[in-house]
Amino acid sequence: MRFTVAIDGPAAAGKGTISRAVAAHFGFAHLDTGLLYRAVGARVLAGADPVEAARSLTPGDMARDDLRTAAVAQAASRVAAIAQVRDALLAFQRAFAARDGGAVLDGRDIGTVICPGAQVKLYVTASDAVRADRRYRELSANGADVTPDGVLADLRARDARDAGRAAAPMAVAPDAVVLDTTRMTIEDAVARAIEVVTERVAAQGQ
Ligand code: C5P
Repeated sequence: MRFTVAIDGPAAAGKGTISRAVAAHFGFAHLDTGLLYRAVGARVLAGADPVEAARSLTPGDMARDDLRTAAVAQAASRVAAIAQVRDALLAFQRAFAARDGGAVLDGRDIGTVICPGAQVKLYVTASDAVRADRRYRELSANGADVTPDGVLADLRARDARDAGRAAAPMAVAPDAVVLDTTRMTIEDAVARAIEVVTERVAAQGQ
């Protein structure tokens, strides 16, 4: 069975947790597409050309343990604005989405560009303050030297770049279900996402 769940939205809205939970619940494969851009960003920080890095990305690049830092996040969002970088990563993402057994992909342009025909599209969002608070807790728990204001400024800079770029900007697909997690617990957000996917899986089987 081919069944694609596209989950988009800004940084730290809860996409990753929801995507992993949906994939686990339905036995679907999961691809965090942000990691592709982070891996390219990390190679660029080490001196590589962005387009060359995107064209020659290896599983080893994706498995690096330094991809979650704030510096790599900003580098990812800069390389993500380059159309040739996005083109180089397109076929891999589409092939992943089309695999048998179902797939969940999370990112910024999954429902709009990578998988416009996805069976389910979710756009997960939350207020800037809540997202910044979540990301601050996550980064400081991992020992990063960050401040709440710095994290908020970083998120806003990245959102503005991601939504304002010409190539595949972050946007809500017209047929996406919007999930605002500002006042939701993560358990409630996961339950709501699973409910939406369950309805579509059932409709698909009819
Ligand atoms: O989701 P994450 O924060 O890991 O993504 C890092 C960056 O990668 C984003 O800020 C965005 O610039 C880029 N990205 C993208 N398209 C995607 C996924 C991520 O442009 N589908």
